[in-house]
Amino acid sequence: MASTRDWFESVAEAQRRAKRRLPKSVYLALIAGAERGVTLEDNVNAFSELGFRPRIADLPQNREQATTLFGQDISFPVVISPTGVQAVRPEGEVAVSRAAAGAGTMTGLSSFASKPIEEVIEANPNTFFQMYWVGSKDRILARADRAKKAGAKALVVTLDWTFAHRRDWGAPMIPEKMDLKAMIRFAPEGITRPAWLLDFARNGGIPDLTIPNLVEQGEEAPTFFGAYGEWMGTPLPTWDDIKWLREEWGGPFMVKGIMHPDDARRAVDIGATAISVSNHGGNNLDGTPASIRALPAVADAVGTQVEVLMDGGIRRGSDVVKALALGAKAVMIGRAYLWGMAAGGEKGVANVLSILRSGIDEALLGLGRSSIHELTREDLIIPENFTRVPKK
Ligand SMILES: Cc1cc2nc3c(=O)[nH]c(=O)nc-3n(C[C@H](O)[C@H](O)[C@H](O)COP(=O)(O)O)c2cc1C
Repeated sequence: MASTRDWFESVAEAQRRAKRRLPKSVYLALIAGAERGVTLEDNVNAFSELGFRPRIADLPQNREQATTLFGQDISFPVVISPTGVQAVRPEGEVAVSRAAAGAGTMTGLSSFASKPIEEVIEANPNTFFQMYWVGSKDRILARADRAKKAGAKALVVTLDWTFAHRRDWGAPMIPEKMDLKAMIRFAPEGITRPAWLLDFARNGGIPDLTIPNLVEQGEEAPTFFGAYGEWMGTPLPTWDDIKWLREEWGGPFMVKGIMHPDDARRAVDIGATAISVSNHGGNNLDGTPASIRALPAVADAVGTQVEVLMDGGIRRGSDVVKALALGAKAVMIGRAYLWGMAAGGEKGVANVLSILRSGIDEALLGLGRSSIHELTREDLIIPENFTRVPKK
């Protein structure tokens, strides 16, 4: 079915619509990758190197996609990856979560998100909370406690952030505050994107870029730079620190950002219940291979000791199927839903999730698999050196 005004048929079309609707700086912040963007591109392109081995008869009439994650049922193996500082639509993570709940899947909420966790969990009770290692242990614990009280189903700690700021394409300026000076500076961008501007104007004004989930509920939220400053001033965590947090939390706990099998084993050692093979969507150390290349070795290193997720470059249902065949239990998506959100708000996110669900179903049919749980590496044609694992 061809795209219509209210419906798009591919994630690529959602991206085109996002580009047309968002002010340039907001759009650039979504598509950003560190430095030259080598990892960013590889995350997407590596999927094209993987081939399928389709079958043509005795195909299954019905195909099953349901699975579990963090002890929760999800209707298909795609969840919302946490993304911070969204200025895409005024409803922000609440609308994303409504769409995720509607699709029967989980929301990952960033501690750098724009909406309070309590509102997000009201929209989707199946939410997990993601944090970076920011501030004193007392403050970290206070955030985890708030998430627990709000009903978060799991805690995720993201460790792949090396404060990489340089971007060859020119990083957009993030203002300290949306004051008059900043508004004048951004006015030319806003004027060329009236629909975006009007939407915010009608719904509480221009995004103020404060971060509500880093403090106690109801306390004044820090600005983005205030929060980032606290982060940069925090000593880097050790595995013992992560173990401490895992023990304090007590429930399902994921380490996000794993690219090395040794780190996957360390995550198992400290008692993590899940890991995400991820390079922060190409926003960390540029030159890191695509997450999908790292997935097989990481999955082999941990077996069934933890739930293995992956994220980075998922744009199609067939990408999800490739990741599952290489050992992931589920995938997380970032930019795909942000573009959907920009293009159509809650409906746009639901649209993206539905594109992925149909794409998974088509790939399962083509492969003659009646369930995502039947997928194996035998379903793929994997070129030599795909994984880029150095020979010993
Ligand atoms: C705009 C943006 C903001 C992000 N913010 C966070 C964040 O706050 N916490 C986090 O763990 N990951 C963050 N990520 C990384 C995503 O969770 C995810 O790893 C990545 O987007 C996956 O790649 P994809 O965008 O190609 O799907 C962010 C990514 C983007 C694009």
